[in-house]
Amino acid sequence: MKLTKSSITSSLASALLLGMATTVSADEDQLAMGKLLFEETAGEMGCAACHSIDGSGDVGPDIRGLDDLDITAAFQSVMEMQFLRSYMAMNGPEVKAIGAWIEQL
Ligand code: HEC
Repeated sequence: MKLTKSSITSSLASALLLGMATTVSADEDQLAMGKLLFEETAGEMGCAACHSIDGSGDVGPDIRGLDDLDITAAFQSVMEMQFLRSYMAMNGPEVKAIGAWIEQL
């Protein structure tokens, strides 16, 4: 294939697009996992049981816009949440995923 300016530009563009598509789907996987854990499966009842389905709060406070570091801190300090420590590692992928989910709520 003869290299022309436009052929280089278009392969660069597709490489960029491919790169972006991969990143987006990794993010989407993490968000999907975070949503599931948050709504249903963290501690077999989800975070939603106490923080409501949209994160705006119920028994627990509004946690919309917080992140995984806030969750780790809450695991350490909030008595009501201690039982969750046996379900997931404090800095593990589940916490990162739930963090990504509540951050965008
Ligand atoms: C049994 C009820 C309960 C469940 C389940 C629960 N929480 Fe909580 N959570 C609380 C309560 C109550 C507080 C506030 C305690 C306080 O302020 O003293 C809290 C506080 C927090 C905070 C700190 C909020 C702040 O303003 O700093 C975060 C973050 C949090 N929870 C995230 C989660 C996540 C994520 C899950 C699911 C993995 C979860 N919680 C599950 C009851 C719960």
